[in-house]
Amino acid sequence: MSAFVKLTTESELPAPGQAKEFPCGDKVICVANVNGTISAMDNVCLHRGGPLGQGVIEGNKLVCPWHGWQWDVNSGEAVHNPVVRIAVYPLKIENGDVMIEQ
Ligand code: FES
Repeated sequence: MSAFVKLTTESELPAPGQAKEFPCGDKVICVANVNGTISAMDNVCLHRGGPLGQGVIEGNKLVCPWHGWQWDVNSGEAVHNPVVRIAVYPLKIENGDVMIEQ
Protein backbone atom coordinates (compact mmCIF):
# COMPACT_ATOMS: atom_id res chain seq x y z
CA MET A 1 0.00 0.00 0.00
CA SER A 2 1.31 3.45 -0.83
CA ALA A 3 1.10 6.55 1.29
CA PHE A 4 2.37 10.10 1.20
CA VAL A 5 5.15 11.04 3.61
CA LYS A 6 6.85 14.38 4.17
CA LEU A 7 9.99 14.80 2.05
CA THR A 8 10.85 18.44 2.68
CA THR A 9 9.29 21.88 2.78
CA GLU A 10 8.35 24.00 -0.19
CA SER A 11 11.01 26.58 0.71
CA GLU A 12 13.76 23.93 0.41
CA LEU A 13 12.87 22.90 -3.14
CA PRO A 14 15.45 23.44 -5.88
CA ALA A 15 15.19 26.58 -8.01
CA PRO A 16 14.00 26.28 -11.63
CA GLY A 17 16.65 24.53 -13.72
CA GLN A 18 18.20 22.80 -10.72
CA ALA A 19 18.06 19.46 -8.90
CA LYS A 20 18.63 18.58 -5.27
CA GLU A 21 18.96 15.50 -3.04
CA PHE A 22 16.71 14.75 -0.09
CA PRO A 23 16.98 11.86 2.37
CA CYS A 24 13.78 9.84 2.63
CA GLY A 25 13.72 6.85 4.95
CA ASP A 26 16.51 4.50 3.90
CA LYS A 27 17.04 6.11 0.50
CA VAL A 28 17.75 9.41 -1.16
CA ILE A 29 15.36 11.12 -3.54
CA CYS A 30 16.36 13.43 -6.39
CA VAL A 31 13.98 16.35 -6.82
CA ALA A 32 14.18 18.29 -10.08
CA ASN A 33 12.66 21.62 -10.99
CA VAL A 34 12.01 22.01 -14.72
CA ASN A 35 10.57 25.46 -15.40
CA GLY A 36 8.72 25.42 -12.09
CA THR A 37 7.43 21.85 -12.40
CA ILE A 38 8.71 19.68 -9.57
CA SER A 39 9.35 15.96 -9.99
CA ALA A 40 10.92 13.24 -7.88
CA MET A 41 12.94 10.14 -8.77
CA ASP A 42 15.40 7.77 -7.16
CA ASN A 43 18.74 9.50 -6.65
CA VAL A 44 20.84 6.54 -7.78
CA CYS A 45 21.73 6.47 -11.48
CA LEU A 46 21.16 3.02 -12.99
CA HIS A 47 24.46 3.22 -14.85
CA ARG A 48 26.96 3.12 -12.00
CA GLY A 49 25.17 4.74 -9.10
CA GLY A 50 25.88 8.41 -9.71
CA PRO A 51 24.01 10.92 -7.51
CA LEU A 52 21.35 12.32 -9.83
CA GLY A 53 20.44 15.13 -7.45
CA GLN A 54 23.90 16.56 -8.08
CA GLY A 55 23.31 16.56 -11.83
CA VAL A 56 22.16 19.36 -14.09
CA ILE A 57 18.91 19.99 -15.95
CA GLU A 58 19.01 20.21 -19.73
CA GLY A 59 15.58 20.80 -21.27
CA ASN A 60 13.32 18.40 -19.40
CA LYS A 61 16.14 15.92 -18.84
CA LEU A 62 18.31 15.38 -15.80
CA VAL A 63 21.93 14.72 -16.69
CA CYS A 64 23.90 12.42 -14.36
CA PRO A 65 27.02 14.17 -13.05
CA TRP A 66 29.24 11.11 -13.46
CA HIS A 67 29.01 10.01 -17.10
CA GLY A 68 26.24 12.09 -18.60
CA TRP A 69 23.38 9.63 -18.95
CA GLN A 70 20.20 11.63 -19.42
CA TRP A 71 16.93 10.85 -17.63
CA ASP A 72 13.41 12.00 -18.38
CA VAL A 73 12.28 13.56 -15.11
CA ASN A 74 8.62 12.67 -15.70
CA SER A 75 8.82 9.08 -16.93
CA GLY A 76 12.16 8.10 -15.41
CA GLU A 77 13.27 6.71 -18.77
CA ALA A 78 16.88 6.82 -19.91
CA VAL A 79 16.95 8.95 -23.06
CA HIS A 80 19.23 6.56 -24.97
CA ASN A 81 17.25 3.46 -23.97
CA PRO A 82 13.67 3.88 -22.66
CA VAL A 83 13.65 0.27 -21.47
CA VAL A 84 15.98 1.42 -18.70
CA ARG A 85 13.76 3.27 -16.28
CA ILE A 86 14.42 4.79 -12.89
CA ALA A 87 11.65 4.95 -10.27
CA VAL A 88 9.67 8.19 -10.20
CA TYR A 89 7.31 9.25 -7.43
CA PRO A 90 4.20 11.45 -7.24
CA LEU A 91 4.58 14.62 -5.19
CA LYS A 92 2.04 16.96 -3.67
CA ILE A 93 2.33 20.11 -1.62
CA GLU A 94 0.24 20.54 1.51
CA ASN A 95 0.48 23.58 3.75
CA GLY A 96 4.06 24.26 2.67
CA ASP A 97 5.16 20.64 3.08
CA VAL A 98 6.29 18.58 0.10
CA MET A 99 4.79 15.11 0.33
CA ILE A 100 6.05 12.10 -1.63
CA GLU A 101 4.11 8.95 -2.38
CA GLN A 102 5.98 5.75 -1.58
S1 FES B 1 26.65 6.75 -13.06
FE1 FES B 1 25.21 8.01 -14.07
S2 FES B 1 25.94 8.11 -16.10
FE2 FES B 1 27.33 6.78 -15.10
